[in-house]
Amino acid sequence: MRADRLGNLLGIRRLYLKLDSHNWPTYSYKDRVVAAALQRAVDMGVTTVACVSTGNVGNSLAALAAAAGLRAMVFYPSGVEAGKHAMNAAFNADVIQLNGSYDEVSAICRRLALEWESVAFVNITLRPYYAEGAKTVGFEIAEQLDWEQPDHVIVPAAGAALLTRMTYGFEELSELGLTSGGLLPRIHGAQAAGCAPIANAFAAGNLTVRPEIPNTIATSIAIGNPTDGNEALSVIRRSGGSARSVNDQEILAGIELLAEKAGVFTEPAGGAAVALTRKLAAEKVISGDDLVVLVITGCGLKTQELTPPALSRVVQLDADYAAVCAALAHAL
Ligand SMILES: Cc1ncc(COP(=O)(O)O)c(C=O)c1O
Repeated sequence: MRADRLGNLLGIRRLYLKLDSHNWPTYSYKDRVVAAALQRAVDMGVTTVACVSTGNVGNSLAALAAAAGLRAMVFYPSGVEAGKHAMNAAFNADVIQLNGSYDEVSAICRRLALEWESVAFVNITLRPYYAEGAKTVGFEIAEQLDWEQPDHVIVPAAGAALLTRMTYGFEELSELGLTSGGLLPRIHGAQAAGCAPIANAFAAGNLTVRPEIPNTIATSIAIGNPTDGNEALSVIRRSGGSARSVNDQEILAGIELLAEKAGVFTEPAGGAAVALTRKLAAEKVISGDDLVVLVITGCGLKTQELTPPALSRVVQLDADYAAVCAALAHAL
């Protein structure tokens, strides 16, 4: 989707949103990766699938397992938003919420995955298939831009399957001679300042990430020990891009800006990507003529705790013609 009003504000003439938040059954990019892993689970004859999740993977697993007739077990850390729990309940998944961080839950799930041979953890046991699903983001962006390689792609990064595999998608198309432009777009990974192991390692010039304890409102990208963190650093450097962090206020401002200028309601992961795009444009890392794609990976309806209470913006009136005219006269 072209985002001209947002682009005008940021000084970017060709700004596109890759909307991976409204076109999927559970409103996040995770439906792609979980679909790829579940296909493998079905091929293997598994009947119970599981995941460790910051929120959205759990929703994708619950929904897609329901569609495939599989039992779903979702392992969550503390702090997952009500909207994500509501979605799991609709799909009748077993949800196990542990009092701890994503990384603590992940460590337990990795042990369970070794011991429970009959259960396939989509983002542990089946991670290679799961990650492969993210390549399709790169393929689709190229196809939707009529095979013109973008100059910059900005994407939120947590475990970094999306960032790394999307980049391989671009690379494969380019090697096949299907896209015009360079081998790779410059890839920029957005992280929350309260959980930025990749951005901090990038800033320090390190080759490996150092795990962090998350403290951010952006729970969906609060992964302190990213599985593909080191690979993300290498991919980002190869592309000439960056990994940067934005603070929680900037993330909320990013959510508002996207709603106001593009009519898209995103969750904090998307707010982080918008905030980073704003920063890169202000610093002229992105120039006005560059072809820029901002990847919006999740939907704000699932994180309503973080947006202004909707009801406080509603004008409540009696269903009476004269009362409506009197109350709204000043607004015309
Ligand atoms: C909405 C959203 N965007 C982005 C990400 C980051 O994806 P990845 O873990 O592949 O970096 C996640 C989950 O981790 C997410 O839920």
